[in-house]
Amino acid sequence: MSLLGHSFISSKQLSDKDLQQIFERSRLFKTTFESKGRIDHLITSDEVKQKIMTLVFAEPSTRTRTSFQMAALRMGIRIVSLDNPSASSLQKGETFSDTLRNVAAMKPDAMVVRYGVDKESDDSLEHLGVPVINAGIGTMEHPTQALLDAFTIMEHHGEVKSKKVLIVGDVLHSRVANSNLVLLKMMGADVAYCAPEEFVPRQEAWKGVKSFSQLDEAVAWADVLMVLRIQKERHGQQQGIGLTVAQYRDKYRIGGDNLKQLSPKGIILHPGPVNRGIEISSYALNDPRCRILDQVTNGVFVRAALISFILGLEVQKS
Ligand code: NCD
Repeated sequence: MSLLGHSFISSKQLSDKDLQQIFERSRLFKTTFESKGRIDHLITSDEVKQKIMTLVFAEPSTRTRTSFQMAALRMGIRIVSLDNPSASSLQKGETFSDTLRNVAAMKPDAMVVRYGVDKESDDSLEHLGVPVINAGIGTMEHPTQALLDAFTIMEHHGEVKSKKVLIVGDVLHSRVANSNLVLLKMMGADVAYCAPEEFVPRQEAWKGVKSFSQLDEAVAWADVLMVLRIQKERHGQQQGIGLTVAQYRDKYRIGGDNLKQLSPKGIILHPGPVNRGIEISSYALNDPRCRILDQVTNGVFVRAALISFILGLEVQKS
């Protein structure tokens, strides 16, 4: 599909051509920024000055929200941010889907949205009349995270094709894992996971995906180790999931002996936020193979590229 004027909700929407164009432009933005400290001069469409994007976030965010803002501002697009649910009319009983409809009625050029599991809001997205970018919806998908993860893998391994990507942790509740499974498979990666029974993904898309029961063996197999946070906020208030943090940490934390199994050329990724000492040790975070901050840097340029295609901005090559 062409991204121009369309919403971007799922990794499934991306064609090979979209991917090639997004990654090429992300690379251009990143290298230009590294040499010139700016990318706004690459945007040749004069109407960029008139573009306004809204960010509507009903869930906490550090990296995703800030990098969307950085991406837009680096290109000269202005931002209106509604990212503090307690200071919005959600507090007065308005539903999130009505919030989305009202922000859309102000006619922004695009809306970047994040919210929890909410069927009504899901259904409203295609009727907003504004391109919507999914910045993390419930346990469904987080497709821009998958794009920046794939970009980071390519940066370090040259390509995604035939790379062995191991996802470790709370796969069941992770929208990041869902988007990565689709995208990385589309790009020819070999994807597997290692998780306790409580976190084994049950969605259709995960049927037949390779899984490991032994973490050491799994880490030894991987070219890319993608570590996930335990998504406590999605486990249900009262009942939880019947697995304590200590039990998880003892068996699945990345660090110490299991890290020795990772190939010297392997890399460690994590979408953040990291819960140090739980899913990954501070020692592992200091390992030279850890590329987590590269992911964060890449998030700005990959999101800038995506926004530029959705808004139809002309970009010159140097
Ligand atoms: C993830 C998210 O919000 O889904 N974080 C992110 O966007 N970088 C993962 C998480 O919250 O654990």
